[in-house]
Amino acid sequence: MKGIILAGGSGSRLNPLTISVSKQLLPVGDKPMIYYPLSVLMLAGIRDILIICRPGDIHQFRHLLGDGTRLGLRIDYAEQDAPNGIAEALIIGAGHIGTDSVALALGDNIFHGPFFQGVLEEQARNVEGCVLFGYAVKDPERYGVGETDAAGRLVSLEEKPARPRSNRAVTGLYLYNNDVVDLAKNVSPSPRGELEITDVNLAYMRRGTARMVELGRGFAWLDAGTPESLLQAGLYVRTLEERQGVRIACIEEVALRKGFIDAETCHRLGSAMGNSAYGQYVMDIAAELGESQP
Ligand code: TTP
Repeated sequence: MKGIILAGGSGSRLNPLTISVSKQLLPVGDKPMIYYPLSVLMLAGIRDILIICRPGDIHQFRHLLGDGTRLGLRIDYAEQDAPNGIAEALIIGAGHIGTDSVALALGDNIFHGPFFQGVLEEQARNVEGCVLFGYAVKDPERYGVGETDAAGRLVSLEEKPARPRSNRAVTGLYLYNNDVVDLAKNVSPSPRGELEITDVNLAYMRRGTARMVELGRGFAWLDAGTPESLLQAGLYVRTLEERQGVRIACIEEVALRKGFIDAETCHRLGSAMGNSAYGQYVMDIAAELGESQP
């Protein structure tokens, strides 16, 4: 399975922060926002990843993540000329997807919760149509809202409905089989002028091959698109990290735990940032896991 992180958008709700810096490079806790969706794809076992961003932002993402080799990944970059909609990522990424299945992650969505890795791996193993992840919210009218039957099959999907049929918001992580490239190419711009991801998901629903997996209680799904939610996300991450002594979305740790890199490489990555608590953590994890590994 290939991965795509959509990290463009105008980020207008975060102006002036996002005039010269991509939203997905802003800090959430002690790391750039894109570390969170990147670690989600890595946890799913995905190593071949395309990052799509605004024209002009590529060099900053590349400066941060390079070609991915040091994390045992392959990272490519592409531009989205204008925020023409989330579904456009699947057209821009068509060459990257090739004949494979794909996981599309929005660059400003943060997921954290128990057993997430297992859920991701299981869902990514064999995607027959599309897999969405639903999350109960108290204000579903602000989101795409999905409803499933007892078997988890998607039976209704509405964008920002005035009268939601469920309280399940569709989150910014989508798994698709290879049909998605053709389906995305067939989507027409909506009244707001965007290629809507909801239209792609509806096409799967009509075929009866769309599923929605529930992210239950105890799970955190945050987006960091406004000044308030950006601050809240940072505080959430910081509170958990300080309390538990573990880090959320430490990409070096994820790479090590997934076996993408060895402990020595991980330690080296940490020591290059050794002046920060983050770098120290990476070195500590490398030492701890290095001892337990043969
Ligand atoms: P949004 O939060 O819907 O839009 P935005 O990032 O442009 O911000 P604002 O509403 O404040 O102007 O986008 C969700 C995510 O998807 C975010 O990470 C940006 C990304 N995105 C793109 O990269 N390209 C697009 O065309 C759209 C619509 C979103």
